[in-house]
Amino acid sequence: MSDPMRPPASQPRPHPAAPRSEPSRSRAALRTAVVWDVLQDALDRRVKATGRQTLDVLDTGGGSGNFAVPVAGLGHRVTVVDPSPNALFALERRAAEAAVADRVRGVQGDARGLFEVVERGGYDAVLCHGVLEYVDDPAEGVRNAVAALRSDGVLSLLAAGLGGAVLARALAGHFTEARQALDDPDGRWGTGDPVPRRFTAEQLTGLVEAAGLRVGSVHGVRVFADLVPGGLVDTQPGAMDALLELEAAAAELAAFHSVATQLHVLGETREADGA
Ligand SMILES: C[S@@+](CC[C@H](N)C(=O)[O-])C[C@H]1O[C@@H](n2cnc3c(N)ncnc32)[C@H](O)[C@@H]1O
Repeated sequence: MSDPMRPPASQPRPHPAAPRSEPSRSRAALRTAVVWDVLQDALDRRVKATGRQTLDVLDTGGGSGNFAVPVAGLGHRVTVVDPSPNALFALERRAAEAAVADRVRGVQGDARGLFEVVERGGYDAVLCHGVLEYVDDPAEGVRNAVAALRSDGVLSLLAAGLGGAVLARALAGHFTEARQALDDPDGRWGTGDPVPRRFTAEQLTGLVEAAGLRVGSVHGVRVFADLVPGGLVDTQPGAMDALLELEAAAAELAAFHSVATQLHVLGETREADGA
């Protein structure tokens, strides 16, 4: 797994939402920097392994293109499958604004009926970000995402973390809700909880392995970002960059996975693993 060309975790790469020349990075970048760094690295490795500059990427539940549009900006062809017509409309507009409309295709569909709308075994990389929380059957969602991969492909899986929600409710003074999330089989803090399901790192890696992939890496995402008052980050010079570096450093440490707002798992087919 280790790649000498890979930048150290403590030096996150610029997110496309925050150009290299921009000294202070946006809050949006803070929420996605760790995932973007891992994903971009995985795509770079696929480019090298396949010898193709343009990869075929599927973003299942890709919504309005938070990741699909920047991935297309790297030169890859991206198919977004999402049940929401509004999200697909926003995707189309966003892709046009980013001048990547020719590389982004939006298709209405869902994780269960994935192969009614896209090709089985047709993609170098599949993204499944923020979707397993909402599908009826997460194991089926992961199996379908994996079945969309070529024999040498990577799965980028991002989902809400249980521990992060417990910690956030407790720090907000909602101790009963924190306890409820801890005890609830779906990790929900109550009937008003907008997220239907949360996961531990073990549950997510279990789903990836059960679908036949090897786990390449696990990262905790937004370990601190959601807990730090906005004013602290926005008013202190250099605070945003320092927080980004802290997030990147903590993301790889298993000790922090149990308190991260989201968890990212990179799954690799056996062939991609040997590439
Ligand atoms: C939290 S958003 C995440 C969007 C995007 N993946 C991202 O990371 O920004 C969840 C997305 O999942 C989509 N979704 C909900 N149920 C789904 C299903 N059964 N199959 C596929 N996508 C679904 C929603 O329409 C929405 O766009």
